[in-house]
This record gives sequence, C-alpha cells and structure tokens, in this order.
Amino acid sequence: MSAPLSQDIHSDFQRRFGYEPLLVRAPGRVNLIGEHTDYNGGFVLPAAVDKEATFAVGLNESGQIRLVAHDLNETLELANAAEIAPSETHWANYLLGVAAQFQQRGVAVPGFDCVFGGTIPQGAGMSSSAAIECGLAFALNLLLKTNFDTMELARIAQKAEHTYAGVMCGIMDQFASLFGRDGHVVRLDCRSLEYEYFPFDTAAARIVLCNSGVKHSLASSEYNTRRQECERGVSVLQQHYPQVQTLRDATMEQLEAHRSELGGTVYRRCAYVVQENARVVTACQHLEDGDLAAFGQDMYASHAGLRDDYEVSCAELDVLVEAAKAAPGVFGARMMGGGFGGCTINLVAPEHVDGFIASVSAAYQEKLGLKLETYQTTIVAGVGAV
Ligand code: GLA
Repeated sequence: MSAPLSQDIHSDFQRRFGYEPLLVRAPGRVNLIGEHTDYNGGFVLPAAVDKEATFAVGLNESGQIRLVAHDLNETLELANAAEIAPSETHWANYLLGVAAQFQQRGVAVPGFDCVFGGTIPQGAGMSSSAAIECGLAFALNLLLKTNFDTMELARIAQKAEHTYAGVMCGIMDQFASLFGRDGHVVRLDCRSLEYEYFPFDTAAARIVLCNSGVKHSLASSEYNTRRQECERGVSVLQQHYPQVQTLRDATMEQLEAHRSELGGTVYRRCAYVVQENARVVTACQHLEDGDLAAFGQDMYASHAGLRDDYEVSCAELDVLVEAAKAAPGVFGARMMGGGFGGCTINLVAPEHVDGFIASVSAAYQEKLGLKLETYQTTIVAGVGAV
C-alpha cells in the first residue's frame, strides 16, 4: 500500500465527515496451490500480497451508515443502521454484509462512516471482495470492542460473501487476508482450520501475476455449480463410506470403485479435488526442501487438473500458462482463484523476470491479440491498523 493512498482515504474521510477515523489496511491474496479445495475441507497455500484495500472508519452519532467508494466516487447512505438489508449498489453489499453479520452475532451496530479504496485489481482473482469484507470486519471489531478473534472475523467476512454477494465461497480468501505473514505462505487445513506458515523467499523465486483481463464472474456462473457437483459426489460416496464427510476424506480408490454411479462429470470434479489436496501436501514438502523445480511441476499439474477435470480455466489462461512453460527461468505457472478469467500465478527466477514478462506479453499479443498486464507482488502481513 502506498502511503499516498492511505493519506487520500484519510483526507477524503475528514473532508466528508469532519472527525478522525480509524485507518485500516487489508491485503489481497495469491494462492500458490490448492484451488477449489477450501470448500471441500482440503488444503490451500495462500499468502497476503502488497495489493491492498485501505479503509477509514468511524462511529457517528447519527444512527446512519454512510459508505464511500473512494475510487468510484460513489456513496451509499442507509438511514438506520438497525435496518441493514442487501443493496442494489454492488460494492456496498460487501460492507453491509459484514455489518449484518455483527448483528447476527448479537451486536447492536450503531451508525458508522466508511471510506475505502485500494490497489487490488478487480475480477483478477486476487480477492478484492474478501479484502473489503475483512478490512471492515477488523475495523468494526476494534471500534465496537467486540473482541471477535481473527478466525471469527474470517467467518464473518465469508458469511457476508455468502449472504450479501451470493457466492458460496470457501474460507481461503478471507483467511489469507487476515492471517497473512510477511515473507511467508500459509498452509490452511480447511477441515480443522489448523494452519502452518512456510517461509517463501522471493529472492529465489519472484511471484509474477499475469492478468488475462477476462473478468471472472463467480456469482453468476459456475462456482456454485462446482460446489454442488462436489456435494453430489460426497453424497454418493457416503452411501458406501459413511466416514466421508467432505472430499477431503475421499480417496481415488473409492472414486474408481463408484465411477459409473458418480457419472463422468462428478467423477472428474471429485478426482481433481482429491488429487489437488495431495499436491498441496507434497508441494509444501518441496518448499521445505528448497526444491522449487518440483514445486513448479505441482503447479503445472494443478493447472492441468483445473483445465481438464474441474473445467474452470479458459482459453486466455491456458495460453498464458503455455507461454510461461516455454519461457526460460520459470519454475511453475497455473491459473489462480475461482477461474474463468483473472490471473495466472508464475514463479520466476529473479534474473529472468524481465525476459519472462516480455515473452509472455508477446505470446499473448500474437495468439489472442490481447495486451497483457502483469504485477510483481511481494508477500506482506495480513489486515491491520495503519
Ligand atoms: C474463490 C473463492 C475461494 C476459493 C477459490 C478457489 O477465490 O472465494 O473460497 O474457493 O475461489 O480456490
């Protein structure tokens, strides 16, 4: 987060509301491996990165909720904080959904003001929506002295997404934004919610994101369908193996044994998830061994599964991964996040970053006639007061 942006947000708040706010920053995230595993009770390996949302938040005495999207120069006012409901204004729902979750937990939410803005590209699979939810949840928790622990804030933010944005997301994005640690990736077990930090040395491998420019629309599309297909798989397996609560508990042998009963599509969805979970575990071992080449192979395998079996990639993402494979100094690449657009994540040897960006940009232009935007990210700490 550049200091100027948080100053802009701060002065915008003061100009509009005339009192001193609390300032909070909330990062977006990358995910090295473990995609579409979170809502299946599996493993993910995200990190918070230096594309962030900034908030200025304060309690007013008026009982109103006054929200400002600084970058859009749009406002939304609600006359009575006791009567929060979903809004027609898309961005406001992430904030209102969070306030509603505080109410659900028995907190009388008083009037408050919030100005937010940031540098997380939208629709890029970097969790701009989770950052918005987490930033406000953190701010309200401090201002209202509600003392929810950080995991509960993640749940509040996730629930806000379910109820006010209509996306039945897992907990990875909100967890990553809140629990990020400078210089580390974090492996979360989405079944037990236990987590472990692994050092990630960006001096050995840079994290470069290639934005396909295709805006994913998780809500309207296939995300919720994938979730249902996985649930369908679990319900079939459960009839034979009552211990299978989520796909985390399933094995490839079980899937093979009931392949025809599952049907082709559900089988492939489930097989991808079971294999991806195993990949996260081995990838972490490779990371601990300092074996980036092996880690990168896991990333390519993850992409292949997402493309062929889970079917959440798209032509643009596939071109970007193939171009990365052909470029020198690349350890691994794959699509990142929900899919159907957004970014690829690439691990690139530092001395090859410039060449990598040049050759992937050229391939994207040549094959699809599209201009590529790239971001080099560093790993930062999770949500906090500025
Ligand atoms: C989106 C969701 C996450 C996760 C990813 C796919 O980012 O918000 O919960 O399911 O997709 O891994």
